[in-house]
Amino acid sequence: MDKLVITGGKRLRGTVRISGSKNAVLPIMCAALMVEGEVVLDNVPRLSDVEQLCLILEKLGLRTRRHANQLFLEVHDRGPTTADYEDVRKMRASVCVLGPLLTQRGRTRVSLPGGCNIGDRPIDLHLRGLASLGAEIKLEGGYIHAETPGRGKHRLRGGDVFLGGPFGSSVTATANILMAAVLAEGRTVIESAACEPEVVDLADFLNASGAKITGQGSPRILIEGVESLSGERYSVIPDRIEGGTFMVAAAITNGEIKLTDCREDHLVAVIDRLRRIGVHVDPADGGCVVSSSRRLAPAAVVTQPYPGFPTDLQAQFMALLALAEGNSFVTEKIFPDRFMHVAELGRLGAKLRKEGPTVLVEGVKKLTGAPVMCSDLRASAALVLAALAAEGESEVRRIYHLDRGYERIEQKLIPLGADIHRVSE
Ligand code: UD1
Repeated sequence: MDKLVITGGKRLRGTVRISGSKNAVLPIMCAALMVEGEVVLDNVPRLSDVEQLCLILEKLGLRTRRHANQLFLEVHDRGPTTADYEDVRKMRASVCVLGPLLTQRGRTRVSLPGGCNIGDRPIDLHLRGLASLGAEIKLEGGYIHAETPGRGKHRLRGGDVFLGGPFGSSVTATANILMAAVLAEGRTVIESAACEPEVVDLADFLNASGAKITGQGSPRILIEGVESLSGERYSVIPDRIEGGTFMVAAAITNGEIKLTDCREDHLVAVIDRLRRIGVHVDPADGGCVVSSSRRLAPAAVVTQPYPGFPTDLQAQFMALLALAEGNSFVTEKIFPDRFMHVAELGRLGAKLRKEGPTVLVEGVKKLTGAPVMCSDLRASAALVLAALAAEGESEVRRIYHLDRGYERIEQKLIPLGADIHRVSE
């Protein structure tokens, strides 16, 4: 198991290129199950989640091949329809094979993903949505068994689908219903669809492959079913969460980082918060420059569905506010239990108090290096950021969580002047 050893206190300076989006590429890879001919994806990040999903898709009859930042995917066997417990458990996003397998192969058996370190994570919206398109669904033995009408003989039927849940819409449920509806007969209207850029990217990929989708990026998506899709070349959008993480890296180290290939228009809520606490975010040739030169002001941050402040940057922002001059509040409205980083940030000297879905952050003048443990992907990023700002040496353990969603983060941080190295334990 690898760990990162970080000596904090260095001001980060230089340029970093933001990689392709993890949360965009994973559903697009699943959509390749529905496509005839070869799909070529550009700007695919090198992440363990991408590798893991390739293995899962290979079991489902896809041939996958990687060359640099390109990924080639082509179906060679339409027989398999089962996604196992072991696979779905390891990678929740693989639940996105449900819609494509059902709509294209007529039936599927996909393991229920279960909870994870950030909370319960039900999938009722996925199932309700597919049922609105005529799918016959039963849950048995920990698996979702789903068939199209007529015991898998007929196509799904377009219909009206409502995807609003207690915490807003669902990103992967919207992806699943979108994919299922593309090959359904007739017209589907998804109301209360997720508006995240990753959903837009999936819809744009499907349209490039022959689908007829409009309204992506708004809460109402319209889909006219088509009979088939054909393989195309498509470039994945930049990862807004990696972008936001490097923005915080500049701010927390009082540095100056130029981000290239970053979509600032996908980070409006984050940039707004950064500016309000005193961080400079300025447009630059081919990207933007983020810099800070003084102790930051506190803030109230509430996570919300897009275009609100993303839950996937909540932990990283909490690390930043831990060093602000005054008290901040961080409220989690998407995953109310997503606070595994609180205790570990405390080990680095942050003063945090959790009250239900809110954490009171009492700003301190400095953090101090310590050994800490990663619990999930974004919590890991928060620990790395805090360690970069802390005085002395920190060891960040269990970074396999980090490698799921950041392309060798130390290789991007070292050229910026960070004192960080990976050690195999
Ligand atoms: C996606 C992202 C994840 C991000 C999250 C919220 C991927 C691969 N992952 O996860 O990084 O943190 O969006 O932006 O894109 N819910 C239900 N019923 C459902 C589905 C979800 O109640 O059927 C709830 C969830 O528990 C949560 C909220 O809806 O409270 C949003 O979850 P959702 O958008 O589904 O998250 P994911 O798509 O799993």
